[in-house]
Amino acid sequence: TATATRELLLSRIRDVPDHPKPGVVFKDITPLLADPEAFAALTGALAELCTRFGATKIVGLEARGFILAAPVAVSAGVGFIPVRKAGKLPGATLRQAYELEYGTAEIEVHAEDLAPGDRVLVIDDVLATGGTAEASLDLIRRAGAEVAGVVVLMELGFLGGRARLEPALRGAPLEAI
Ligand code: PRP
Repeated sequence: TATATRELLLSRIRDVPDHPKPGVVFKDITPLLADPEAFAALTGALAELCTRFGATKIVGLEARGFILAAPVAVSAGVGFIPVRKAGKLPGATLRQAYELEYGTAEIEVHAEDLAPGDRVLVIDDVLATGGTAEASLDLIRRAGAEVAGVVVLMELGFLGGRARLEPALRGAPLEAI
């Protein structure tokens, strides 16, 4: 992404101290979403990566990943596939558990949405510990599809998400805008 675009995007992300709990600085993307110029610039940059990586489908990770990924899918002319927290999708699903700081979580995808021959780009707002993204790659592979890459708006480097995700990427690119 061009430096000016990156600066515009980062200027529209608000740091909220002590949310959702003391000591955590929450990265709030709502100012970016409310700025049509910034949201369009982000969508364009993500759509370019989608094309460059040869993706044929886009997975968005609930909930903020949905907001970013959906316009990219329309712009790039590929299908949008939601990966949801467990229990939300009505059809037959694949389910994947992953470790949180305390305890575990589970995400799901509709099994019929991904198939061999698909090249899937994963989009989310933040890469923190990498647990959610890692589990999404497991789901994609279990469905027989290929991982085209992972793109996030922000990478919180100090949480080591990239290192955690590295083996699951199997050489696919991980990019932060
Ligand atoms: C946040 C964020 C990523 C994930 C990153 O979502 O939007 O999806 O956490 O964390 P990780 O790299 O440590 O897995 P959250 O679980 O808060 O869900 P939400 O978007 O539905 O609020």
